[in-house]
Amino acid sequence: MDPTLSEWLAAQLSEPSDEPAYRRLTHLFKQAILSGQIGGGTRLPSSRALGQDLGIARNTVTHVYEQLQAEGYVETQTGSGTYVADTSPDMSGAPVRSRQSHHAARDHQRLSRRGRRTIELSGVSKVQWGAFMPGVPDVTEFPVKVWTRLQNRIWRGARPEQMTYAQGGGYPPLRRALAEYLRVSRAANCQPEQVIMTTGIHQSLDLAIRMLCDVGDEVWVEDPCYWGVRNLLLSSGLTPVPIPVDSEGINPSAQQLARPPRMIICTPSHQYPLGCVMSLARRRMLLEYARLHGCWIVEDDYDSEFRYGISPLASLQGLDQHGNVIYVGSFSKVLFPGLRVGYMVVPDSMADLFALGLADLYREGQTMLHATLAEFIYEGYLGTHIRRMRGLYAERRDILTRAVRSRYDDRLPILGDEAGLHLVLALPHLQDDFGVVRQALERGIVVRPLRTYYSSASTAQSGLLMGYACVPHERIGPAFETLAEVIDHCSKEKAGISMQTS
Ligand SMILES: Cc1ncc(COP(=O)(O)O)c(C=O)c1O
Repeated sequence: MDPTLSEWLAAQLSEPSDEPAYRRLTHLFKQAILSGQIGGGTRLPSSRALGQDLGIARNTVTHVYEQLQAEGYVETQTGSGTYVADTSPDMSGAPVRSRQSHHAARDHQRLSRRGRRTIELSGVSKVQWGAFMPGVPDVTEFPVKVWTRLQNRIWRGARPEQMTYAQGGGYPPLRRALAEYLRVSRAANCQPEQVIMTTGIHQSLDLAIRMLCDVGDEVWVEDPCYWGVRNLLLSSGLTPVPIPVDSEGINPSAQQLARPPRMIICTPSHQYPLGCVMSLARRRMLLEYARLHGCWIVEDDYDSEFRYGISPLASLQGLDQHGNVIYVGSFSKVLFPGLRVGYMVVPDSMADLFALGLADLYREGQTMLHATLAEFIYEGYLGTHIRRMRGLYAERRDILTRAVRSRYDDRLPILGDEAGLHLVLALPHLQDDFGVVRQALERGIVVRPLRTYYSSASTAQSGLLMGYACVPHERIGPAFETLAEVIDHCSKEKAGISMQTS
C-alpha cells in the first residue's frame, strides 16, 4: 500500500475517539476514495496485512471491506484481492469538475472534527418520496383546501405581534390545543405551559441535549436506533451508549445498569426501526431506574397515532410521577414532514427554563403557521385526518404484507407491522442488505438497509425498512414484485458465491 496512505490511516486512528474502529476505518476509506487520495483500480492490502499495520483485528478490516463493497466503493475479485472501484464521474472535457472535487476534499478538511463527523455519519436520504420510502406519510392526501381557507383567515387578521419573534414556548392557543390532544390521545400528564413548540423532533432533541447534558456525558440509545439521534449526540460531544433491544424494548444488561447515563433516549410506543412496543414492566423499570439515579428519559413518540388493531399504550410521560421524562412528538407523520412543527412536554417546574432556552438558542417564529394549525385542531380537522389516514395506511400495510407472504410465506419474517408507517422485512439469509438497497434503487425502488441502524456490524441484522404509507394501493404489488426480483437475484448470487467457496 502507498506508505503515505497507511501512515495517514494510522495517524487518524490514533486520534482519541469514542467510535468503534470499524466505523472510523470505514469513514476514513470513504473519505480517501471520494477525495481521490486512493484512485480507482488501486489494490487494497489484504485484511491481514492492514490489520497488522494498524494494530487492529483482521476481522475488523474484513467487515470494513465488506461494507465498502456493499456500498460500491470497492470491488472484490475472487482470488485476486480488493480494488477501489472506479466511481469517479467522466471528466472528459470538464476540467472545472476536477477542480471542484479537489475543493470538496479541501473543504472537508477545513471542517471542525465534529463537522466532519456529522458529514461522515450522515444518514439522510436524497430521495424522500416513492415506493417504499420509510417514514413518509402520504402528503398528497393532506387537506390543502381546508388548510388554505384557515390560513387565509389567519392572514386576513394578522397582527404585528404574530409577525415578530414569538414568545418563548410558542403560540399559546396551539400549546393549549396540544395539551388537550396529548391528554386525551396519549394519556399525557400535561398543562399547556409544559408544551414547548419546536420545528420537529430533531430540534426538540437538540434542545433537550443542550439544556440537560454536558459535553462528554453518556446517553443510552437503543441499538438499533434512528440515525438522527446518534448523529445529534456525537456532533454535540456526547457519548452514545448503544443498548440492545428485545421484544419488550430497550434492554440494558446488568453491567450497563451499573453505570447510569445522564440521559436515555427511547421510542417506547413503536421502537424505531424494529417496531416493538415497550412492555409495561420495562417502562416501570426504566422510570424507577431514572428516579433512583437522576437520569433523564427522552420519549420519542414519532408515529404512535398509527396503530392497527391494537390500542395504544399510554405514554411513558403519563406514567412518570417524578418529572424525569421529556416527551417529544411531531406533526411530520400525522400531517407532512415539510411542515416542520414539533413539540416537547417538559416537567412543569422546568417549562419556563426550556421556553427561555429555546428562544435564546433558535429565536422563535412561525406564529402564523402555529395559529393556522391551532384552528385546524380546534375545528376537528386533525382528528378527522388522522382517522382517515389510519384506515388508508392499514389497507396499504395489508396489501404489502399479503404480497410478501404470497411470495415468501414465512421465509422472510416481517417485523413491526402493527403500527407506524413502515415495516421491516428481515433478510436472515443475506448479509448484504446494502447490495439489495443499491440494486433496488437502480430499478426505482427506495428501501433502507436495516444494518445501518445498528452501532456495530457484528450485532447488526440484515433487513429492509419499507415504508408503505406513501405508496398508492395499486403501486404496492408491482413495486414489491420488482423488489422481490432484486432480493431473489441477490440471494442467487450469494448462493453461487457460497458454492464456489465451499
Ligand atoms: C424515530 C424518529 N424520530 C424522529 C424523527 C424525525 O422527526 P421530525 O421530522 O419531527 O424531526 C423520525 C423521522 O423519521 C423518526 O423516525
